[in-house]
Amino acid sequence: MQDLAWWQHSVVYEIYPRSFQDSNGDGIGDLKGILTRLDYLVRLGIDAVWISPIYPSPMADFGYDVADYCGIDPIFGTMEDFDLLLAELHRRGLRMILDFVPNHTSDQHPWFLESRSSRHNPKRDWYLWRDESNNWPSHFGGSGWELDATTNQYYYHAFLKQQPDLNWRNPDVKAAMFDALRFWLRKGVDGFRVDVMWLMIKDDQFRDNPPNPGYQLGQPSHHRLLPIYNADRPEIHDLVAEMRAVLDEFPDRVLIGEIYLPIEKLMTYYGRDMRGAHLPFNFQLLQCAWNAESVAQVISDYQGALPAGAWPNWVLGNHDKPRIASRIGASQARVAAMLLLTLPGTLTLYYGEELGMTDVPIAPEQVQDPAEKNEPGLGQGRDPERTPMPWDDSPSAGFTSGTPWLPLGDNAASNVAAIEHAPRSILTLYRRLIDLRRIHPTLVRGKLQSVIAENDVLRYERVELGTRILVLLNMNRKPVRVTLHSGTVLASTSLDREGQKLSGTIDMEAAEGLILSLDL
Ligand code: GLC
Repeated sequence: MQDLAWWQHSVVYEIYPRSFQDSNGDGIGDLKGILTRLDYLVRLGIDAVWISPIYPSPMADFGYDVADYCGIDPIFGTMEDFDLLLAELHRRGLRMILDFVPNHTSDQHPWFLESRSSRHNPKRDWYLWRDESNNWPSHFGGSGWELDATTNQYYYHAFLKQQPDLNWRNPDVKAAMFDALRFWLRKGVDGFRVDVMWLMIKDDQFRDNPPNPGYQLGQPSHHRLLPIYNADRPEIHDLVAEMRAVLDEFPDRVLIGEIYLPIEKLMTYYGRDMRGAHLPFNFQLLQCAWNAESVAQVISDYQGALPAGAWPNWVLGNHDKPRIASRIGASQARVAAMLLLTLPGTLTLYYGEELGMTDVPIAPEQVQDPAEKNEPGLGQGRDPERTPMPWDDSPSAGFTSGTPWLPLGDNAASNVAAIEHAPRSILTLYRRLIDLRRIHPTLVRGKLQSVIAENDVLRYERVELGTRILVLLNMNRKPVRVTLHSGTVLASTSLDREGQKLSGTIDMEAAEGLILSLDL
């Protein structure tokens, strides 16, 4: 795959650092902890890790409230720990992608402390201050505007009031933030996942958003309005292109954008002449109904909308969304693994998916996530999908010697030690599927064609000169009969059909997936 950039043929693995591995017994994961698990990642076969924020932070939003863009929070360790982790990842041929949080800082960031101190402070204009608020809401409930008593003006915060939004129209903000990017790029970081990229620029006239006619009771309150003026503004694309240009000062780096927008809008983030984000995150699989028709539709829509020269990507899970195994059940989670790892482009999975990890129920008194605390009971809380990685069946799952910051799930049966060497475990399936992409580059770069849904079986082919790979995914709870010409099984979700020669009419078990190399 020498004709591709590293990130094009990569499987990216998101680590939520608080929950991966604790090394000092405080119940919270850290960099030294990650370091002790690198060999596991190598065995899994992933190519790159994306680590959620590790910068100094009051942790109001668990690191997505940054108080210093060029440091490491003591909870996670030191800069020496970071340097060592980066070096050790690279020594193993793995890449490191950092989370960059440009839309807002912490209210404890020195820039904001200065900005809020007086209307005449040179950093006043680094944030969005107004005499009057408008109707823009916070994603975490309530108004997005906070009246600050010191100067009797409002500042805007798209998330918590402890997360004031930066004013990206101010050139000094841009310069300072781009320098922060360079700080990490100079260290050798391989790229960034940019937090809420589509929210960074707001309407310069601060116009009110119109009501959302589709709003339904029970949805989070920010859905009451259409985010016309505080999201996806036309000017964002120049800004993303500038950010990309900073990365391009360094060889071989990747810019990934977190963007929750419909497909057509999402595509615009590749930028004019592909000078925007290399990968605007594609969250379609996180959102679509789990049946062959819906998934076929999503795949066709996404592929069909890709502009010329754009590299596709697919995401199966992240720290903001319910885990896939909870959404679709344990047996379909294996089908989802096969789906993800046979789609074209760059693929992202979330720590623990390879164990079939499920959301862990969180009792009201255990809630940590401010999204749940502010608007309880609406399903906004993200703690269930952020619980510690179960490494073994000991009381703290090998995650910590202390008390874990979030409760562990039932780790007795599914933990790394128990299933890593089990020949048919979901972890073995993940390893096999990731491996298959190396053995058969057609799965990475081959054309995707003939995407069809029939009797709740999703089928598609990956094709290159001289190679045709067929994927069959039974998304139903019932066995089903399908037909094909003839081919050899490369992998099956049950891991027991490899090497079988199949032709004509074949029977598939409920929730079975097959990858076949077709005879030409
Ligand atoms: C992104 C992050 C999420 C965070 C929010 C505010 O959506 O993924 O975890 O709460 O931005 O930074």
